[in-house]
Amino acid sequence: MKTEGGSETAKRNAGERAAEEVTDGFVVGLGTGSTAAYAIEAIGRAVDDGLDVRGIPTSFQSRQLALEVGIPLTSLDAVDGVDLAIDGADQVRDNPSPNAETDANATADNGTLIKGGGGAHAREKLVAAAADRYLVVADPSKLIPELDRSVPVEILPAAHTTVAERVRELGGEPTLRDAEHKDGPVVTDNGNLVLDVAFGPIESPAELATTLAGIPGVVEHGLFIELADATYVGTDDGVEKRT
Ligand code: 5RP
Repeated sequence: MKTEGGSETAKRNAGERAAEEVTDGFVVGLGTGSTAAYAIEAIGRAVDDGLDVRGIPTSFQSRQLALEVGIPLTSLDAVDGVDLAIDGADQVRDNPSPNAETDANATADNGTLIKGGGGAHAREKLVAAAADRYLVVADPSKLIPELDRSVPVEILPAAHTTVAERVRELGGEPTLRDAEHKDGPVVTDNGNLVLDVAFGPIESPAELATTLAGIPGVVEHGLFIELADATYVGTDDGVEKRT
């Protein structure tokens, strides 16, 4: 699978390393996007070798891939819990820790993400929040000290003008996501629309997350606040684990 952004080797290294955390008997959340796809493919190979797992896909795309590589599937309402979820991200907040000088591996304020580049963030957040452990897989281009990418906001179709007006009042610039080379807006797996809202640098992601979640018509937004337990950052040479 070839995509824009970080190198395929970096994405593959991250995805494959995270997939090694899946062990026998696990229920595993299967994220969406090109980096998570490498984890799904690696889990599929492990299933071929006898690993006993059940996957919960977070999108039509990840479901199709999981079926293709032979991962038995289940759903959130059919299991007691999710052992591990693996997913990509569009941006990962990565601040140096105040202890960085004394501890080379120390980081702070991590585990906060912007997701939803594929419009799958509603189900991705459901699965991430249900998981005992949530691992993010990314290449270095996704790491940033202060989140500043547009925040995807999934909305009820009837609410696209009212939500757009409300986010403008909050200082955001909303754009209704359009399907490339097609007429009309992108429709999510849940039958909703997506507003990509540019806020510029986001100083207080947690505050913005709470405000967005309270707007009538918002189904889910792409700010994931301190949900990730670790981020596997793939490079062309290996993988670095950030916690
Ligand atoms: C989909 C997502 C993806 O995980 C995110 O867009 C990253 O994708 P990629 O690994 O292809 O860069 O949030 O909704």
